[in-house]
Amino acid sequence: MRCLFVSLMLALISTGAMAQRSVAFVEAASPDDALVIAMRDATLPESVSATIGAAASENITRAINRTGFTGEAGLTASFVSGASAYGEIHLVGIGPSDLRRRDWEDFGARAALLAKVSRAGRVSVLADGADAEDFADAAMGAMIGQYGFTKYLSEAEPVTGEIAFVASSASAAQQAYESEGRHLAEAVMWTRDMQSEPANVLYPEEFVRRTREWFNGVGGVSITVLDERAMARLGMGAILGVGQGSPRPPRMMIVRYNGAASGEAPMVFAGKGITFDSGGISIKGNTGMWAMKADMTGAAVVMGAVHSLAASKAPVNAIAIAALAENMPDGGAQRPGDVVRAMSGKTIEIMSTDAEGRLVLADAVWYAQEQYDPSLLVDVATLTGSVGGALSDEYAGLFARDDATADALTEAGDVSGEDLWRLPLHPNHDKQIKSLIADVKNADTGSPGASTGAAFIGAFIKPETAWAHLDIAGVDWRAEAEPTRPIGASGFGVRLLDQLARSRAE
Ligand code: BES
Ligand code: MN
Ligand code: ZN
Repeated sequence: MRCLFVSLMLALISTGAMAQRSVAFVEAASPDDALVIAMRDATLPESVSATIGAAASENITRAINRTGFTGEAGLTASFVSGASAYGEIHLVGIGPSDLRRRDWEDFGARAALLAKVSRAGRVSVLADGADAEDFADAAMGAMIGQYGFTKYLSEAEPVTGEIAFVASSASAAQQAYESEGRHLAEAVMWTRDMQSEPANVLYPEEFVRRTREWFNGVGGVSITVLDERAMARLGMGAILGVGQGSPRPPRMMIVRYNGAASGEAPMVFAGKGITFDSGGISIKGNTGMWAMKADMTGAAVVMGAVHSLAASKAPVNAIAIAALAENMPDGGAQRPGDVVRAMSGKTIEIMSTDAEGRLVLADAVWYAQEQYDPSLLVDVATLTGSVGGALSDEYAGLFARDDATADALTEAGDVSGEDLWRLPLHPNHDKQIKSLIADVKNADTGSPGASTGAAFIGAFIKPETAWAHLDIAGVDWRAEAEPTRPIGASGFGVRLLDQLARSRAE
């Protein structure tokens, strides 16, 4: 057998337009398939040798020895031979240690990227020792790893074929995937679509329409939408002020999922939903302004997480609130120096109309506390450029008043693969939002930006509320690909909040 070694760099094959290969679970590979094999080290597992036969095994083993493939996590190597069955074999290193959910997701995503360059109609994935859950996690990773936003490409590559995970009990793996992973993958991809959608297409009312449509038919869900009149009646001067510079009016959308006893206090997730952030009268520079179409990521993330919980019938009560507005500088726009009154009754001096996320959230979190008395309140927002400066794209910024809440969030991040790093909330940060003429001001100069933003939202959180603030401005959009996160919209937070809610139900 002539072996040809092709080193495939993930970065090379993860760009460009793509549609998705579907995932399946099967009991055996067929010789027409290309194979992806999970490798703990440089030795082919016995079950794999049995599948591909002694001759092919020997050839692969010789090639492995020649190329120095070690099985280290993330390493891949591909062997192509026209001479025998299983003519295309890809090895994916998974390393010698125990794999966690996030590692199986990465493995599945790597398998999917290899499937993308494969000529075979079906790619079968062998992972010795993986159980049904592991395969389900890998399948979930394979789906979101293939994500691309292709709807505006006139000539998107058609993709056909299947990624088949070879499990000793295919039906158990299928069942595990169908019950949770499939819904989570769909939620992550929906969220990425919403982030990617340009702001001429996606504005507050359109966000509402699409979200309604997506939740249509999902059991246990009820939806409330507040228009400007309803918000005015409730005294939501903060979000109304942000929205008043755009001809496209703001909205507050509440999606409630009841999966547990009706008396059980819900978890509430509130998301910043600025469908475009021009900065308003405190207008931004042009460089990178296009990315502010994704300033509604928090809102899409909270909807995504609650959809995943509802579609999989998780035994929890969870509510998503989207605080939606377009931040634009027309003649009716709010000015720096204006004073508005939030629903809580506090007055706010607007120092910068570009610090608008905290304003829409001030009303969202107050509404959440008044209406629902949440067991836990988490707000999610692309709030500050400063958080990306501190944590880059490895971690989202986590702010909490108490360690128990912070630890629960950190743990959910660790399990889900969406990592958080705690940043300070210090009494000094409260001083930075003191105004001379109003109760608070929305921005300060020369202060630690991410903490000031957190402190501002904190001014609208009751002392007794268990609360966490997630600043996702550094992680919502990726410049470089990772296995389960292609370049562009990341959907960061969907997996995290889904996991958080499930872990609390246990
Ligand atoms: N949406 C931005 C934050 C942002 C920046 C998100 C870069 C994603 C990438 C937010 O509304 C904003 O403008 N924040 C200001 C706050 C400042 C005016 C206090 C910032 O971070 O500069
Ligand atoms: Mn802004
Ligand atoms: Zn913003």
